[in-house]
Amino acid sequence: MNYSDPAQLEVDRTSGALRGSPSNYQKKLGDLAGIYRDQAAFEAQLAYRRDEVVYAVQDYRPSFGPNELIFGTTWMAPGRIGDEFFMTRGHIHARADRPEIYHGQSGRGVMLMESPDGEIRTIEISADVVCYVPPFWIHRSINVGDEDLVMAFTYPVDAGQDYEVIARSNGMRTLITTDGRGGWQTTPNPDWQPRTTSQIEAIHQSGARS
Ligand SMILES: [Fe+2]
Repeated sequence: MNYSDPAQLEVDRTSGALRGSPSNYQKKLGDLAGIYRDQAAFEAQLAYRRDEVVYAVQDYRPSFGPNELIFGTTWMAPGRIGDEFFMTRGHIHARADRPEIYHGQSGRGVMLMESPDGEIRTIEISADVVCYVPPFWIHRSINVGDEDLVMAFTYPVDAGQDYEVIARSNGMRTLITTDGRGGWQTTPNPDWQPRTTSQIEAIHQSGARS
């Protein structure tokens, strides 16, 4: 039998740099059209910040077999579009029964989670806080502080991401907005559309390995 190689990675908890990681990607403001409700505010910032990096991900992906784990870090700049803080596009795992763990390294964040039938949960993340995202929860991370947000994460290598699940419902059910006093609050998203029974069933069925 061939065995997968052990790996050593090193996290820089302020920059999010992951030494030993062979892969990374960045999302610039110009890549994030459609995720913020305030379109006018987004267009206004796009005019002069299109190429600014909003968040970056570095990860280590073993490719030996379907039971392995991906480990990585995510860095996100502080900022807002209108009342909404900078955030990731968000996703559900393509194999939706795969879970994920986030581990706060620095900064102040919120993990916004939505179940297929529309239940919302938020978990605040700061240094040394661990957030468990169970199977089947849509998840998005948000930088609610005024400093960089850095988190480490791990999830099964075969989980995959479905980024369209949020767009299909016109966003997540809840927005995370500034409370005007340096904190954050939840605001209902008036555009949100509940999933149909068949959409929910498709999510439940997505876990089986093909
Ligand atoms: Fe995920």
